[in-house]
Amino acid sequence: MITSSRWQHILAVARRARTLAEKLRPNDGMFAEDMFLLGMLHDFGYEFAEDPGDHPAIGAEILKRQGYRYWKEVADHGNVNVTEATDALFVLSCADMTTGPHGESFTMQERIDNMAERYGRDSRHHKKAIIAAEKLQADPRYQSFKGVINTSV
Ligand SMILES: [Fe+2]
Repeated sequence: MITSSRWQHILAVARRARTLAEKLRPNDGMFAEDMFLLGMLHDFGYEFAEDPGDHPAIGAEILKRQGYRYWKEVADHGNVNVTEATDALFVLSCADMTTGPHGESFTMQERIDNMAERYGRDSRHHKKAIIAAEKLQADPRYQSFKGVINTSV
């Protein structure tokens, strides 16, 4: 189910993805629009997923059926085993990792701490968030987001 708080998260991720896209590709307005839409679509699989962990795959499958360009990014969001992130996946992941469950603007550390509070320190969610943050921050593209994302992680 998409709860009202999840909806707030989705909209905030979309807006943040747009902002980050403008930083990463300053002269590419279409990319910014596309990243807003990707943010809007990244979590809608929750509406259909019985196991919440299945929401990326379910959302991606539906989007693939529409011929949606970024269905794979939806499938891969939250997957820390992806080795070569596209710009779109990188933008989406950074936006998702700096947006709280109710749409709050978080540092990555706050997002990690929030995962620990919600799911526990030994949870898969918390461990994955730590790995995800490390990978995103090690990526050279992360430097484009200085001043937008609070880099004091
Ligand atoms: Fe998600």
